[in-house]
Amino acid sequence: MYYIGVDLGTSAVKLLLMDGEGKIVNVVSKEYPLFFPHPGWSEQNPEDWLSQSVAGIRELVQDVDKSQVAGISFGGQMHGLVVLDAEDKVIRPAILWNDGRTSQEVDYLNGEIGKDKLSAWTANIAFAGFTAPKVLWLRKHEPENFARIAKVMLPKDYLAYMLTGNHCTDVSDASGMLLFDVEHKCWSREMLDICGLSEEQMAKIYESYEPVGTLKPEMAAELGLPEQVIVAAGAGDNAAAAVGTGTVGEGKCNISLGTSGTIFISSEHFGVDQFNGLHSFAHADGYYHLMGCMLSAASCNKWWMEDIIGTSDYGANQAPITDDKLGNNHVYFLPYLMGERSPINDTNARGTFVGMTMDTTRADMTQAMLEGVAFAIRDSFEVARSLGIRIERSKICGGGARSPLWRKIIANVLNIKLDILESEQGPGMGGAMLAAVACGAYPSVQAVCDAMVRVVDTVEPDPAIAARYEERYQKFRKIYPALKPIFPEID
Ligand code: XUL
Repeated sequence: MYYIGVDLGTSAVKLLLMDGEGKIVNVVSKEYPLFFPHPGWSEQNPEDWLSQSVAGIRELVQDVDKSQVAGISFGGQMHGLVVLDAEDKVIRPAILWNDGRTSQEVDYLNGEIGKDKLSAWTANIAFAGFTAPKVLWLRKHEPENFARIAKVMLPKDYLAYMLTGNHCTDVSDASGMLLFDVEHKCWSREMLDICGLSEEQMAKIYESYEPVGTLKPEMAAELGLPEQVIVAAGAGDNAAAAVGTGTVGEGKCNISLGTSGTIFISSEHFGVDQFNGLHSFAHADGYYHLMGCMLSAASCNKWWMEDIIGTSDYGANQAPITDDKLGNNHVYFLPYLMGERSPINDTNARGTFVGMTMDTTRADMTQAMLEGVAFAIRDSFEVARSLGIRIERSKICGGGARSPLWRKIIANVLNIKLDILESEQGPGMGGAMLAAVACGAYPSVQAVCDAMVRVVDTVEPDPAIAARYEERYQKFRKIYPALKPIFPEID
């Protein structure tokens, strides 16, 4: 049988066709536009996600026996606010996970309602990208749109709804809304009240590996697939990537270098740290996880290469950065191109190069950009360490993980081993694996991971390089606090 994984990303939807043994049979990617209507805002049209996913699935399965397609599931960009009216029309463009417009609402929630209450109700505090502050923003700034809301959805759940007609979500993605009681896996009555929402407007909650329905006849016809294809709830992209990399059960770690950069620690137990430095979310394996998320990771690389230098030859620009240069760069980069979430929670923070001299080369700046992302990941890693979590090795996935240089920099900046997998398609692979569980091909998420995830290489840190990076990281840590008061002024 075949299983389809839909990785609904920020720059494109990546579709993956997998067989029952975990072999990737085909991969298709379809882009859609991302809109920045104001500095720091970020929006997309849900209709674009749907039309490109439909076109992508048709292409994905064109050369296989379609009667053998058994299941579809998702790894979706998290936190985005999608609102539908009573006729199932999208009311306004989706407000995405990396949108920073809600700083006032975040201050209201964390300050006036209070972090202690938020944490007790939802296991998390407010961050600009989370869904609840966006609902409050909509109620204040677009009351006529707010009044029309029949359904509140997350990005991948819009696709599941259009495919099956079931208004559903899964526990991992719901966790990032700040409307969900993560420990008890139900909607938080207090948070719904604060946001002026009723439970009828919210989706039905499923575990990520549970079936939510089958294809509507008109959708099956459009996709050219059987109506019996099972659609599973799926997961937020980070939880799906964790499944795709076998980061399930107790104490495993995955680093994702996609548009965002995340560090994901799986746990069989619910837990919240007292400062809410890391997000505390439900996991797609039925348990829980902690996560730190930086808003710009591989997107810094894309911005620097394509928009600033004007090239798509990433490899040629990384070639001059040889081992002897690692840890010896005098240039630093703060990767806050969209503000920053973990751990500094500052929508005003901005991207910054520091330390250039007349002999600084383009390669030094490219290196600084790659290192800045690694240092920012280390910031979240330090929060995990401060909670007593010991991480000695991690998986790594996402587009950025294709660069051997970037992998080496990250292994040395964190001073841990990085396990490289057969495929870096984390969320798509995880989505397909969740579909396989929903179809009954595997008894659990752990079982499908045991059967399918294959480590093909390990990057070991080099003691000399790691020591140099330790020194440089201590300097990097001083740059943001020094610039923090200036950022709001230059916006
Ligand atoms: C996680 C987060 C991002 C998006 C990217 O909290 O906001 O990783 O899910 O798609």
